[in-house]
Amino acid sequence: MSSQLFSPFTMRGMTIDNRTIVSPMCEYSAVDGSATDWHLMHLGQFATSGIGLVITEAAAVEPRGRITAQDLGIWCDDNEEALARVMRFCREYGQAKMGIQLAHAGRKASTHRPWEGRDPLKEGAGAWETISSSANPQGEGWHTPRSMDRAEMDVVRDAFVEATKRSDRLGFDMIEVHGAHGYLLHEFLSPIANTRNDEYGGPIDNRMRYPLEVFAAMRAVWPEEKPMGIRISATDWEEHGWTPEDSVVFAGKLRELGCDYICASSGGISGNTRLELGEGYQVDFAKKIRAETGMPTMAVGMIYDPHHAESIIADGKADMVALARGLLFDPHWAVRAAAALGVETSSPPQYERAYGFRFLRDKEREWARPRSAEVAE
Ligand SMILES: Cc1cc2nc3c(=O)[nH]c(=O)nc-3n(C[C@H](O)[C@H](O)[C@H](O)COP(=O)(O)O)c2cc1C
Repeated sequence: MSSQLFSPFTMRGMTIDNRTIVSPMCEYSAVDGSATDWHLMHLGQFATSGIGLVITEAAAVEPRGRITAQDLGIWCDDNEEALARVMRFCREYGQAKMGIQLAHAGRKASTHRPWEGRDPLKEGAGAWETISSSANPQGEGWHTPRSMDRAEMDVVRDAFVEATKRSDRLGFDMIEVHGAHGYLLHEFLSPIANTRNDEYGGPIDNRMRYPLEVFAAMRAVWPEEKPMGIRISATDWEEHGWTPEDSVVFAGKLRELGCDYICASSGGISGNTRLELGEGYQVDFAKKIRAETGMPTMAVGMIYDPHHAESIIADGKADMVALARGLLFDPHWAVRAAAALGVETSSPPQYERAYGFRFLRDKEREWARPRSAEVAE
């Protein structure tokens, strides 16, 4: 048998063994931005899991760009050193390529961790000033951000550039810019957050200007042979918000700047979004962007069934498939998915007695039989 999902994919000088991707997942377990043993375990398990590419959680390019005080960061030497330890493990034992997501939380910064309620931090209890395209809060009860002036936009752009250089020194194979989920760059793109009346607000060309400037500055210091992509919210799911058509326009501009792929996520710009959730609910955005721009895309969002993932690639809807919660549920998903599709993926020799065991492989295939066409649609 052969599988499109478990076939190699090349972007610039990076070839991933297969098209299964660990989607970025904030773990809220860093200390002053520095990775801890948790990250060693979390990323280490995925690097050795038969997956094609691991993308780290959002790494904040400056301290105030963290969602919570426990977010991963990449703004100083201590942060770099802590990530170097994680990278050494992933390189020595893992087969997966390693990507890093670089981020700034903008007006959604300064909150409690999800398991502490996610609420904005109170003044005097660790809250910090947030910044955004405009002085509009995310919603009721949220911090009112300070609207960035040009000098501040330079500071943040330069922080993205410094983080890019650090990522290269750390040996990351790829960068994903976080332009989605209502965080800073998305706050420039979306007319819901961006109400500026200078050359960075108003028509789409203006709203795209700052994210494109940041992307171009990062690309200029990132090695030519290494790919750099971006995650966007392909729609705000809101009237008068960012649309899939806007995403196609943005992707076209990014392509001119040397962007290698678009990860099509969605939502997050306010509390009013009405998501239409369902299995593979964002796949059509990846399909549209790919079809209308020719850009490689990554599909994400409620994808778990290996046959569904296979069909996304085989039907030309996307070039890569990323999973988040499914991989927390089962970090060995890639090996099981490969077995279900009748192929193999790499595994550490320490685990070979299980993965090479015919009895278990047959059981996996039986367990994950193709389901009805409605899922593969
Ligand atoms: C625990 C957790 C943390 C996440 N952190 C990030 C993140 O750092 N950056 C990001 O772009 N998306 C983040 N996401 C969103 C996921 O990457 C993914 O897009 C989303 O969960 C949908 O995929 P899924 O249905 O496979 O979980 C996170 C999701 C989860 C569950």
